[in-house]
Amino acid sequence: MEQKLRQLREESLKAIREAGVLDALEAVRVKYLGKKGELTAVLKQMGSLSAEERPKMGQMANAIREELASALEQAKKDLGEKALEARLAAERLDVTIPGDSVSIGRAHPLNRVISEFSEIAIGMGFTIAEGPEVELSSYNFDKLNTAEGHPARDRQDTFYFTDDDSVLLRTQTSPVQIHVMETQPLPIRIIAPGRVYRKDEVDATHSPMFHQIEGLVVDEGITFGDLKGTLNEFVHRLYGPQVRTRFRPHHFPFTEPSCEMDVECFKCHGAGCPVCKGEGWVELLGGGMVHPKVLEGCGIDTDRYSGFAFGFGSDRLAMFRFNISDLRLLFENDTRFLEQF
Ligand code: DAH
Repeated sequence: MEQKLRQLREESLKAIREAGVLDALEAVRVKYLGKKGELTAVLKQMGSLSAEERPKMGQMANAIREELASALEQAKKDLGEKALEARLAAERLDVTIPGDSVSIGRAHPLNRVISEFSEIAIGMGFTIAEGPEVELSSYNFDKLNTAEGHPARDRQDTFYFTDDDSVLLRTQTSPVQIHVMETQPLPIRIIAPGRVYRKDEVDATHSPMFHQIEGLVVDEGITFGDLKGTLNEFVHRLYGPQVRTRFRPHHFPFTEPSCEMDVECFKCHGAGCPVCKGEGWVELLGGGMVHPKVLEGCGIDTDRYSGFAFGFGSDRLAMFRFNISDLRLLFENDTRFLEQF
């Protein structure tokens, strides 16, 4: 039996040394120390030994069991440490490496002006309306009292989609007026910011794509005085109460009477400079009283209702607001420029 015990000891210690993973170690424990383990089996045979051999063998077997148990414990600890080290090596994080800098964007100056304008309008009781950029000619022109033969309808001026010129990229936000009058109940008080398109060559004041903010009010008793008061309020809220405005008579097919509004030049404050081409004034919008034909075309009773409309050039608003003298800067997306606002 002594022989057998020595052999078991050698064998099991070797197995413990060679177990590379925790599972294997557990298998070794079961194999030797488990209920049906080999050492346990030897211990069960103690009864068959002589009275003087029994305590000797018992002592030896117990010593081996303790040795095995502590060798297992140690091996388990070693394996655990090795596993932790491996994980730490694999997941190494160097907290001293400088982090990637995150550059935070900001609202484009044009969008800033559109948001400011919208907030002022909402404060005055306007709601925001939208219309399609790919529009029907009938909405862009006919329903706005702009008949066949008007120069704005020329193929040189407008991007058409179809041979019969019935679908186009809207040249103005004014068709939103028609969509709103056809679908919304009276009274109406909306603004409609959006993109518009014309066949213009790019220069400091022109782009084939630019932005407008349309406005429309239809109610009982609306007068030209309401238009002037509203537009002056917009300008003073945007640029300050000291900024002067002036209204000039003009012609638009869909308003009667019509006007254009100028503001004092933001560069020279009226003295005359290259930005205002020596005029001292910069044109900001067109507007007027909605033409009765347009109202009637949308089924509105002109005996009872009247309205005013206006169209701001949003790009101009932004240029004026931020002192930008070249329209192209707004569309080039050069961050060196955009970071200034
Ligand atoms: N849509 C015109 C344009 O693009 C601007 C305009 C003028 C809009 C008069 C209006 C208006 O609503 O009443 O030149």
